[in-house]
Amino acid sequence: MIIRTRRNSDIPSSEITPESAFINRRRFLGASAGIGAAAFLSRDAAGSPLSTRQDEEPNTWEEITTHNNFYEFGLDKKDPSRNAHTLVTRPWTVKVDGLCNKPGDYQLEDFIKPSTIEDRVYRFRCVEAWSMVIPWRGFPLADVIRRAEPHPSAKYVAFATLWDPEQMPERRWKPRIGWPYREGLRLDEAMHPLSLLVNGLYGKELPNQNGAPLRVIVPWKYGFKSIKSIVRMTFTEEEPPTTWATQTPGEYGFYSNVNPDVSHPRWSQATEKRIDGSRFFGSRRIDTLFLNGYADEVAHLYEGMDLQKYF
Ligand code: MTE
Repeated sequence: MIIRTRRNSDIPSSEITPESAFINRRRFLGASAGIGAAAFLSRDAAGSPLSTRQDEEPNTWEEITTHNNFYEFGLDKKDPSRNAHTLVTRPWTVKVDGLCNKPGDYQLEDFIKPSTIEDRVYRFRCVEAWSMVIPWRGFPLADVIRRAEPHPSAKYVAFATLWDPEQMPERRWKPRIGWPYREGLRLDEAMHPLSLLVNGLYGKELPNQNGAPLRVIVPWKYGFKSIKSIVRMTFTEEEPPTTWATQTPGEYGFYSNVNPDVSHPRWSQATEKRIDGSRFFGSRRIDTLFLNGYADEVAHLYEGMDLQKYF
């Protein structure tokens, strides 16, 4: 992973307009007291009064769309918002293949259409120890997996991002990162109701820099598992190779569950910088939660596994 020292200018300061024009931000938060549960907001439940705690306040549109990692568009946090306009997101095809009964090349609209779109607020924790709270719009990853009818032998699902050097300016890192960017999940992780395919943010279309037109979000794992702009899903029996675990195996693993007790070889994961443009330094430090606060929902997936080992 590329760690860069953040300049103050990376985070816009006080001028941020909350997305209150779209919806009262607090209404997004469905989790009482914030710890543990994911925040769900179905469209028709949007009016219910909900409580939150201060560090669960969603980040602003500005913060979420100008502080990004999308290395195909550059290595600086600001580069994706500057460069990703060159990504052509329509038409878009997602290939489904590997060990399943319904492989095929699906047009984006057909891929999404059968699912019910929901808004959900999740914590987002990057392995670089910064975090945000993000109101995604999307649908369960489990929907498309069920429709693909994976074979009983399928144990994993692998994802790949588009790689088109004509649209993606960051060619220098091709040999090192080995694009296309690849990620993967165990099938039961991918089927978990918290795992999403996301096509929107703050109720609007997903901006290119955040992974348009369709990305994965797995909120209890470090952000690099949440692969952007996917063009392929492949069902496999073996654990698939993934970008960062292949590139730097001593530092990144396949599981990459958020764990404050397991330090990265080069820095602690005990705390995180919550991006907060209203603060002078553009962030505030908070404790990192085990499994990013989703332990009640997902810890059972790892029963019998030594989580200290599965970085
Ligand atoms: N997906 C692709 N294709 N390329 C990337 O560089 N970066 C990952 C992940 N998905 C990345 C990617 C990392 S390291 C993080 S932290 C998140 O995207 C950042 O998502 P965001 O920019 O929407 O916050």
